[in-house]
Parts: sequence; C-alpha cells; structure tokens
Amino acid sequence: GATPLWGGRFASGPAEAMAALSVSTHFDWQLARYDIAGSRAHARVLHRAGLLSDTELPAMLAALDTLEADVVSGAFSPDPGDEDVHTALERGLLDRAGTDLGGKLRAGRSRNDQIATLFRMWLRDAARRVAAGTLDVVEALAAQAAQHPAAVMPGRTHLQHAQPVLLAHHLLAHGQALLRDVSRLRDWDKRTAVSPYGSGALAGSSLGLDPAAVAADLGFDAPVENSIDGVASRDFAAEFAFVVAMLGVNLSRIAEEVIIWTTAEFGYAKLDDAWATGSSIMPQKKNPDVAELMRGKSGRLIGNLSGLLATLKAQPLAYNRDLQEDKEPLFDSVTQLELLLPAMTGMMATLVFDTDRLAALAPAGFTLATDIAEWLVRQGVPFRVAHEAAGACVQAAEARGVGLEDLSDAELAGINAALTPAVREVLTVEGSIASRDAHGGTAPVRVGEQHQRLLGVLAEA
Ligand code: ARG
Repeated sequence: GATPLWGGRFASGPAEAMAALSVSTHFDWQLARYDIAGSRAHARVLHRAGLLSDTELPAMLAALDTLEADVVSGAFSPDPGDEDVHTALERGLLDRAGTDLGGKLRAGRSRNDQIATLFRMWLRDAARRVAAGTLDVVEALAAQAAQHPAAVMPGRTHLQHAQPVLLAHHLLAHGQALLRDVSRLRDWDKRTAVSPYGSGALAGSSLGLDPAAVAADLGFDAPVENSIDGVASRDFAAEFAFVVAMLGVNLSRIAEEVIIWTTAEFGYAKLDDAWATGSSIMPQKKNPDVAELMRGKSGRLIGNLSGLLATLKAQPLAYNRDLQEDKEPLFDSVTQLELLLPAMTGMMATLVFDTDRLAALAPAGFTLATDIAEWLVRQGVPFRVAHEAAGACVQAAEARGVGLEDLSDAELAGINAALTPAVREVLTVEGSIASRDAHGGTAPVRVGEQHQRLLGVLAEA
C-alpha cells in the first residue's frame, strides 16, 4: 500500500480499522482533475517564489500532465492504501516526477486548503450543469404554454376550485419559481468564487507564495480574506445544498400536480408512454414514476441539506476531520438532480393536456362568483354588499343544482337590484379571464407579455 502523507512522527502505520475508517477515495476521487489543476497552479507560484527552478517547473508540469492523462484513461487509480485523493495523486506524481522533484510540490500547501478549494471548484461546475438542466425544464414549461395560449382551467386555492385561469399562466408560474432557483445558483457562485488555496493548514504560508495568482489560475475572482476561514468554512456547501433542495422542492410541486392531473378523477393530462411506467400485474396501469421519483428524491435533497448543517454545527475553528462528511451529501444531491432534470424536462415537454376537459371544469364549483362581486363593485356597489350578493347567487344556483350563468334575470335582480343582465359579460370563463388584465394577471394579453419576458430571460441565460 501507499504511505500516508504524515508518516514521520509515527513508529507504526495505522491499524486496519483506522485506515478503513479514514479512507475517502471511493467518493473524493472525482475531485482528482481539480486537484491536478490546483497542483499546476501551485507549481507555478512555487516557481515564482524561487522554490522550483526554471528546469524543475516544466518537468513538474509535464509529470502532472502525464498523471492527468493516466487518471483520465484509468491507467492510474487509487490503491486501497491511499487515504484520500490527495494521497493517491501524490503517489502518482512521485512515480512520474521522481521523489526528489515530486516531493517539492507539497511545500506551502495542506490538504486542508486543497480540499476546501477543490470542493468549491467542483460545486461551481456542478452549479452550471444544474442551472442548465433547470433552464431546460423552464423551456419545456414555456413550450407547453406556447402550445396552449388560450386554454383555460380551474385555478385552485386549498385544492378547491377558486377562479378560472389560463393553463399557460399556471405553467409559467412554475417557470418563475425555477428561474429564481437558477438566479440563486448564480448569486451563490459570486460568493463562492474565492480561493482558499494558500491558507495552508490554517495560518497561511511562510514561503512567499501568491494566493491571488493561484486563485486567478483556478478561475476564482480572488483569494479568501482569512486563511482560518478559508479552511474552516463550509457555508458555501450548505448554501448550495439549500439552493438545490429548494429546486427539488419546487420541482416536487410540479411533480405532485402531474400526479394529480393524470388521475382518472382529474383527467387533465396524459403522460407520454416514454415518460411513464407500467405495472407488473395490472395491465392497464400507466404510472407517473418520473413525478413520483421527483417527489421522493426532493425529500432526499432536504435530508442532504439538514445532514450537512448537523455536521457543521458547533465545529470549532479551524479544520476538523468532520468536514470530510461535507462531500457525499452534495455529490448525491447533484447526482440525483442530473438524473431528475432531463426526466422532468421530457415528461413536461410531452404531457398531453385535455383542454376540453379543462375548459369544462373551469367554471365548476362557482369559480365566477368573485367576478359577480367585482362587477358589482365596478357599478358602485360596496364590496361588502357585493360579496353578500354574489354569495347569495351561489346559494341560489347550488339549491337549484345549476351554474351561476343559469340564474334567470329575475333571480339575479331579486338578489340585488344592481344585478342587471349586463353582469352576464363576466359570467363566462373567457370574460372572467379577460377582465383580470393588470400586470401579472391571467388575461391572455398579460400572460402573453409575461411569456415573452420569460423567453427573454431564457435567451439571455
Ligand atoms: N480528506 C480530507 C477531507 O475531505 C482532506 C483533508 C484532510 N486533512 C487532514 N488533516 N486530515 O476533508
């Protein structure tokens, strides 16, 4: 096996159970290429500080190139004896550069500042992939909205029929939430774009190395202000875990609606065969497994966030080995989203809405009652009185088992003299929807505008 990076003061190697507990290559190996990038940057500042000669620097960089090629091809991989990604790569470098040259690279850095830097780099790349996948879901929602510019549906509160809305309005509401998740990922990136490299174990480096040069080399905006904070802080990881958990929760709300919409009782929509599954016993079944996995895995993303926060709670400064527990939950959240986002995109893009059924259900449950009240307000009736009168209309219609639009002129006038036949202009779903024409409202002209603005955001994203 490999020798640990800290053998000098130890008379014996680690006990087997100690080594088994300590090893992290099974998950941190995916940081290998970031570690090699960090090593290249570190070699350059060692050279600038006069700690690698003009001939040593190119030899070191060449050895790192070979090592990277061998990592990518699989020719080099961790041994069971390698404690972590850094230990394994050190062994690989010593093999390729020789122990004299290879052994110089460890000067002025610690695994503590290395891991804090690599983890930020990995997450920043992951944030870009998750954002791109999320924008694909928004695009699918926008495409459905574009296919159904005039389709109406019952809007709900408390899951009860509330007021009719455009299907496009409802779909774009989900799009807005997802765009905020993308915006959160970008805000997060600004705060995370600082490099801990050069913090050393915690106190910084005495060797005249320039952390700003390493930061720029690795794509960061700046080095961290404080080396203790650089190695000890993981709020960037917790914040990322929150943003992706929030994304999962927003996606789970879409998923839940798809599950409900595709029931026989609702019948709002049908799943495409490619995005549904069958039953091993019931031949008729078509199950919304994508949506259910989305709903289920959103709980897992919440768990990853709360687990990480529990790990971080009350850790004294600076680095503690507890921090090694930061990576698996975040790797997992990203892995799950990379499976979920394309599936959610496919499912939403291919969902087939039954617009006739949606239209038939839109006025059910007296969803036009608010329109009667607001029409009366426009005639000068105080809202308190108007609300009473509209409620009385509902009571009368319900008693007769008819819709509000089926009340006769005489019945309407009997409830309130202001209820002239002209009220019928809002007693249709289309009239009701067209009347809600303030910014953000469900009138087709306003939904069309917000659709255009959302497409503008997507085009710039
Ligand atoms: N594997 C460690 C981690 O993931 C790297 C840093 C280890 N540092 C140490 N002093 N043992 O956090």
